[in-house]
Amino acid sequence: MPEPDLTAALALTGPDATLKLYREWAASYDSGFARDMEYNLPAHVARAFLAAGGTGPVLDVGAGTGLVAQRLRDLGCEGPIDGLDFSAEMLAVAATKAVYRTLTLADVTRPLPLERVYMGITSSGTFTAGHVGPEAFDPMLAVALPGALFALSINRRVWQAKGFDKALPDLVEAGRVTGLRLIEVDVYGNAAARLDPEHAEDRALIALFRAA
Ligand SMILES: C[S@@+](CC[C@H](N)C(=O)[O-])C[C@H]1O[C@@H](n2cnc3c(N)ncnc32)[C@H](O)[C@@H]1O
Repeated sequence: MPEPDLTAALALTGPDATLKLYREWAASYDSGFARDMEYNLPAHVARAFLAAGGTGPVLDVGAGTGLVAQRLRDLGCEGPIDGLDFSAEMLAVAATKAVYRTLTLADVTRPLPLERVYMGITSSGTFTAGHVGPEAFDPMLAVALPGALFALSINRRVWQAKGFDKALPDLVEAGRVTGLRLIEVDVYGNAAARLDPEHAEDRALIALFRAA
């Protein structure tokens, strides 16, 4: 069986395939993919969130192995950070790092088993090809307090293809979110060019906005 990798991740066709891939990828995700590709997206999301004045309690959506919470802590974020993901194996790795207050196993495209208590929502790498689309906005907004700051990475490959380019302005127009700003970043560092030329140049937009 081939090792799980980025090409397989970006070609996922549904929740069952996604769960299977992350079950197999969890153990090597940090020491293989993230280290070797110089996966900088979690750091970009954490930095953008804090630079825009983000505070806890934070919900990190698609928390995976916990890279966003690690970066938030490295950068001095002191408030509670909760993690949410639908892969038990990815959350098991995150749990070993002791950076999250709670970890919730849930699908972000459905109503979440959480209270409306969050002043910050972060997400890195989850709004991308083969993963989650704008259908997650309603469940996330339902747990965000008024004024909560969102910092969500959205891969350029799906910005138009999955309709984020319309969904976000629609939320602004409907008065559900305010202050929408987009920051474009590189997903990977220079090492990626040698390892995976097809994805090395990937860019993501970090969508920053507040719940109304
Ligand atoms: C590329 S990983 C990113 C993990 C981490 N945020 C990072 O940047 O390293 C994508 C994560 O999204 C999770 N995920 C995918 N679809 C999901 C869904 N519908 N609900 C919750 N989590 C989901 C996967 O299980 C995986 O852990």
